[in-house]
Amino acid sequence: MEIIRKQVIQRVDPESQERGTTAGQAPAQELGTQLIPKERYTSDAFMRREWEEIWTKVWLLGCREDQIPQPGDFMCTNIGTESVLLVRQHDGGVRAFYNVCMHRGNRLADEGLAHTDEFSCSYHDWRYQLDGRFADIPDLHTFPQGAPPCDGLREIPCDTWASFVWFSLNQEVEPLREYLGEVAEHMEHYHFERMAMTRWVTAEWNCNWKASVDAFSESYHTARTHPQLLWYLDDFNVQIDLYDKHSRYLIPFGVLSPRVESAPEIPPPLKVLMKNAGIDPASYEGSIGDIRQAVQKHMRANQESLGKDYSDLNDDQLTDDYNYLIFPNINLNTHADDLMLFRNRPHPSDPNRMLFDIWMFELLPQGEPWPELPKHDFRPEGSHRSLGLVIDQDAANLASVQAGMNSAAYPGLWLSDQELRIRHFHKTIGDMVGD
Ligand code: FES
Ligand SMILES: [Fe+2]
Repeated sequence: MEIIRKQVIQRVDPESQERGTTAGQAPAQELGTQLIPKERYTSDAFMRREWEEIWTKVWLLGCREDQIPQPGDFMCTNIGTESVLLVRQHDGGVRAFYNVCMHRGNRLADEGLAHTDEFSCSYHDWRYQLDGRFADIPDLHTFPQGAPPCDGLREIPCDTWASFVWFSLNQEVEPLREYLGEVAEHMEHYHFERMAMTRWVTAEWNCNWKASVDAFSESYHTARTHPQLLWYLDDFNVQIDLYDKHSRYLIPFGVLSPRVESAPEIPPPLKVLMKNAGIDPASYEGSIGDIRQAVQKHMRANQESLGKDYSDLNDDQLTDDYNYLIFPNINLNTHADDLMLFRNRPHPSDPNRMLFDIWMFELLPQGEPWPELPKHDFRPEGSHRSLGLVIDQDAANLASVQAGMNSAAYPGLWLSDQELRIRHFHKTIGDMVGD
């Protein structure tokens, strides 16, 4: 049996907190202890209900604003069986349309980033302006009924928040800021608009989209799946906060896991953390247990020379992972200097498959030129190119989890308190699909 060393993590006191995202603990929710039926991950019928009651009701993340800076720049992004165009307008705004020609139903664009002055359908050349209205219908006089009464492409709600473009397939959706709730205010402190996008990858994975959300919503698997991280973070003393639909956990970085007895010297991952913050591990005289706070102090004291502005972050945010789930499918690993965002998308027809998007961002030191946008890197099923050690370790579990879930022997998820965010995620799903 594993013995977990007692470890007290010094945290920002929410009562006397002067700046940054609140470190306050959200009120506990009574979620029970029941098993989560595996059919939620494996059944076609449940997948259809999710489409009807979740994907077509919520706000969905489409792209970064700076991916479509000029009028005519657009992102085509797919979600389930639908495809959407997010289009920068002449007036600087962004509008969203279903990616479908109103003549015979052809899709107007393939997934990805592009630019156009007008959309022209590759079948019979119906044309649409950037605002979606018809620009031209060839031989219109041969349509005795005239042009379709819709006037052009079908528009859907679209809004921007914190440098990102969002859309919804629900015409009646609540305002985006309302949907995001308190989580929006929490994340605005990071100023994502000051971070440059550095990586854009999509991988096809053989698991249900929720299996992936789950993997990034609990730290219970760290010890077995990512043993190298035990020399870098506390996977056990993790604060979990459940909100309305969304949730977060706060993972202290810059410390040894309490599952590690002790370390004879500073472990290499902590040395990297120190060096990144501008501390030379060779001349550091404190204890290993004090590294986290030494890094926080150093970053705070030297932010000007680092060319970075941390004035809107609390001290814990300078080291720790404030990790959010924006329901249903966005995991954000937020850090003072970077953001690692995962977008988990369902397969159009197979509950056993999904699309996993990785978007990485880095805070640029003031005055440094904005780098070029990353090109899209697509990893089809079976690709063996690494996504990075930690994500490779997670991915290796997920196909195996999905296969196991389909076994007649397996009834469903048996969850611990360390996996409370998964229980909360399923409560929200249950409330929405009426289950
Ligand atoms: S389907 Fe688009 S022009 Fe005919
Ligand atoms: Fe993991």
